[in-house]
Amino acid sequence: TMELDEQARAILRLNDMGGYTLPTHGLYPYQWNWDSAFAAWGFATFDPDRAWTEMETLMSGQWEDGMVPHILFHRPDAGYFPGPDVWQGRGPIPSSGISQPPVAASFMAKMLDLDPSGEPRARALWSKLKKWHAWFMEWRLDKGAVCITHPWEAGRDNAPDWDVAMMAIDASDVGEYTRRDTSHVDPAMRPTKFDYDRYLKLVQIGVSVGWDHEKLREINPFRVADPTMTFTLLRAQRDLLAMGRRFGEDVSEISEWITTLEIGAETLWNPELGAYDSRDALTGMFNNVRSNASALCWYAGINDPRAVPATKRMLDAAEYAIASFDPEAEGFEPLRYWRGPVWPIMNYLVGSGMEEQGQIEMAARIRQDTARLMELNGFAEYYDPNEGTPAGGGSFTWTAAVWLGWAG
Ligand code: DGY
Repeated sequence: TMELDEQARAILRLNDMGGYTLPTHGLYPYQWNWDSAFAAWGFATFDPDRAWTEMETLMSGQWEDGMVPHILFHRPDAGYFPGPDVWQGRGPIPSSGISQPPVAASFMAKMLDLDPSGEPRARALWSKLKKWHAWFMEWRLDKGAVCITHPWEAGRDNAPDWDVAMMAIDASDVGEYTRRDTSHVDPAMRPTKFDYDRYLKLVQIGVSVGWDHEKLREINPFRVADPTMTFTLLRAQRDLLAMGRRFGEDVSEISEWITTLEIGAETLWNPELGAYDSRDALTGMFNNVRSNASALCWYAGINDPRAVPATKRMLDAAEYAIASFDPEAEGFEPLRYWRGPVWPIMNYLVGSGMEEQGQIEMAARIRQDTARLMELNGFAEYYDPNEGTPAGGGSFTWTAAVWLGWAG
């Protein structure tokens, strides 16, 4: 509706810091990588110039080696922990030392559809995106699947996928620190202290080797092949390739990456679970977790009939699809961040992928549920998949973007 369109645009404006957009004021006072790519797409629906600027600001934080960090700390803000002093990133802008799901190239392709006149700006960004994608291929593969080195890297911070790997991390010497997230949001909707101790321990390990990816590949106690990363990168490579062809670039290397990632995606298929799963690269074990990331195969261009039954079950198990964790699994928590709540951004990735691959029924269900959540409960970070209760941060940028670009 017109009214919600207006509200969604107002949220993007509200969170616009001039050149980059906050996910929401208070809880997340910096530029987050994949949030920013969603923001750019949202802006592209009504202010293309601002959309391109968002993408340019994000890529201006790229490290020498190609990595694009998950947070860019443009200006200090005491309301967030851990900040730039803790992370000690080594890029051109104070930053974290890890990356995030690489959805930027895919949103750039959408932006180009919405605003073909932006082609010169897209061309300038293309090689930076390629360099970032190359960084993943060089440092993060396990059997062709893309690994995360920190739960924050997947975006799905406290997903049950990481539980076993997190348990193996000794965080007894992590030291004293004060969380800020729980002063903005009900702690029951956030990760636990057990999780935070390990989040910080992993940051300390990264800092101890100056975020040297080669060393980290040897010493980091956390390395999990993740469906979020693998499927979003596979999709992003396809979009990068299509744009590269259009721009007259040499795309042969990108075709090879696509083949590698397709092979890697297959290594995430867990036949016992009947779903795509995360896999611990250090132990070789599957984590046996059905999540919304399991259903990203369609987004990656893989129309896999094996994945349909479990996905349908997950849709049916919640009032509002698709829950971040299987509602029928033990440990499901409908309000705790990535252990149950439904996330509009994941709904968009999953649902739009299904639309493209002809999974029309499941796609329609997810899209309708997404719209219903926002119509009833506004633009929250995430929602209870049974009650629809808004949770986490409010006036949320990427939720508003999903309304403008897809659900509305
Ligand atoms: C947070 O601070 O909760 C973020 O998700 C980390 O990226």
